[in-house]
Amino acid sequence: MRKHLYQDGRPAHPADQPDNDDMDFRRCIKNLSDNPGAEIIRYGRRKKDILSLGQGEGDAPTPDFICRGAEQAMATGKTLYGPVLGHDDLRQEISNYYARIYKLALPTNRIFATSSGTTAMHLALTALLEEGDEVVAVTPIWKNLLGAVELMQAQFKEVPLRSENGIWTLDLEALFDACTKNTRILLINSPSNPTGWVMTSAEIKAVMDFARARNIWVVSDEVYGRIVYDGQRAPSFLDHATADDRLFVINSFSKSWAMTGWRLGWLVGPARAEKAIRDIALYDNMGPPTFAQYGAIEALRHGEDFISAQLDLWRGNMDYMATRLAAQDRVIFTPPESTFYGFFKIDGEEDCLAFARRLIDDVSLLLAPGCAFGRAGQGYIRLCFAVSRDRLSDALGRLERAIT
Ligand SMILES: Cc1ncc(COP(=O)(O)O)c(C=O)c1O
Repeated sequence: MRKHLYQDGRPAHPADQPDNDDMDFRRCIKNLSDNPGAEIIRYGRRKKDILSLGQGEGDAPTPDFICRGAEQAMATGKTLYGPVLGHDDLRQEISNYYARIYKLALPTNRIFATSSGTTAMHLALTALLEEGDEVVAVTPIWKNLLGAVELMQAQFKEVPLRSENGIWTLDLEALFDACTKNTRILLINSPSNPTGWVMTSAEIKAVMDFARARNIWVVSDEVYGRIVYDGQRAPSFLDHATADDRLFVINSFSKSWAMTGWRLGWLVGPARAEKAIRDIALYDNMGPPTFAQYGAIEALRHGEDFISAQLDLWRGNMDYMATRLAAQDRVIFTPPESTFYGFFKIDGEEDCLAFARRLIDDVSLLLAPGCAFGRAGQGYIRLCFAVSRDRLSDALGRLERAIT
């Protein structure tokens, strides 16, 4: 209900509202919880000489062979609308990729190409959540997943991972106990941004069995599934699900193939979800960008060498970071099993948002505050090490100056 009316009783245009903050937009937008990660990025951008390792992307450009796929598509007129759930060729290529890398047979009617992992997440949540539904999320977790739940006017409940000496573990009993009759979704991101925690195959099976018995959906964000330092890929919920299980898996081209700006991802679900996801995508975004999908096909077909080279670089950076930070007695850093994030504590810096602000003010370094990933991340700081050695060294130097 608008508070301000024109004299003739018509509601005033937003521009004429004395205070339009709480009048023009849905209540759930006004009620979105704080996003300290986005806040700190806005704060840091004001500084000209800022060095940012606060966002979740590497500094390598998309490889040429991927770009050429998209360029050729553009040159041959693939610049118009395409199918809402992606071109058949891309859906087939994703299916081939699961067969080759995951040893899983997924028919294309279970694979929905989307305009980013973020879009895949929104499509899945829009398909499932009614207002007031409960989502149980394992945290710390990428904040957008929680924000998306809030946008759906649903509620999330956090189940924090445990951390001992920098090793993160899941208390399965605590997870199961957190589920009530109102729980609609179990929301899990493994490998995890920001902790690098990787759920074991046995844990995945236990959760899938539990969810199946309780008719709860699992929404599993597996965007970092290939960024693991032991083995070819992380365990997936798809390993333990039947074709009809209540499971959506979110994935993306962003991280493994250096394609964050392409805005391409995919969702895997049961075949019976195809129509619902198509309907939502139709009204929401009309499908992924056409020519970009031809770059994505090249990424899947020829991207393995690039992924290995990136992993070698990141592994080296992680070891380098561990050596540098080991010399700092206030820092407790354990190299992660996966992803390209260092998520660590600095003794005496309990207020991570204030600390992140101070890093910007004092040494022009932008890192993400742990509280941006749910309550369980409070007191931590996240550094993305998917950058050149020079930039990493520069960032660590600035951090060292700030804490000594
Ligand atoms: C866990 C997780 N899922 C999804 C995404 C977003 O992927 P996309 O760039 O495809 O939207 C991110 C980005 O940081 C992420 O960390």
